Amino acid sequence: MRIDIISCVPQLLVSPFEHSILKRGQAAGVIEVEVHNLRDYSTSKQKQTDDYAFGGGAGMVMMIEPIENCINSLKAKRSYDAVIYTTPDGELFDQQKANQFSLLENIIILCGHYKGVDERVRQHLITHEISIGDYVLSGGELAAAVIADAVFRLVPGVMNDETSALTDSFQDGLLAPPVYTRPAVYNGWEVPSVLSSGHQGKIEEWRHEQSLQRTRERRPDLYSKLTDFQFVTK
Ligand code: ADE
Repeated sequence: MRIDIISCVPQLLVSPFEHSILKRGQAAGVIEVEVHNLRDYSTSKQKQTDDYAFGGGAGMVMMIEPIENCINSLKAKRSYDAVIYTTPDGELFDQQKANQFSLLENIIILCGHYKGVDERVRQHLITHEISIGDYVLSGGELAAAVIADAVFRLVPGVMNDETSALTDSFQDGLLAPPVYTRPAVYNGWEVPSVLSSGHQGKIEEWRHEQSLQRTRERRPDLYSKLTDFQFVTK
């Protein structure tokens, strides 16, 4: 799977893909990410990518031309299944959306900036408008990194069995249970005895109960959506 990210601050997107799981996924050849500097697609001498808003008002607006040039040059090389625009007024990103995007082959993410983008970009060039939460970031780069990370880790071969994304919180509509590692006692604080009982059936049952309890306490909105099936199949 490949993600191309278009940004006017590409330096912000270097580090997130150079470490740990995403670095290994790229080395294994199962995921690919490339960041494109929007300025390189501007035809003006000053490499302009934004301009004043028609009708006045504070804040600059991202221009349509460099964006279309960049998207067209990418589309000339391969076909894309989604062109995502990161914006606080987009649809909220969640695990279900991450799952859906992870099934696609090639994705473009356009990072929003300033007051936003010329509306015609949204109308004609974008297929999905995505927000990562109800707060405003300085730009869409961190949102693009969040989306790419959540999507890439679901691509087969990026994570090994031990860290399988299938056991993540939200993947079955439940929060993940607590985890512990050595030492078994620290400052008198003990690890629940069931976890060292060696009885795998009891451990799984305990984990499922903990997941249910956490979800009920911390995310009553998710808990109320659980079906009977999710209660009995664990
Ligand atoms: N750009 C600024 N804030 C954002 C948000 N919450 N989600 C996505 N893109 C953004």
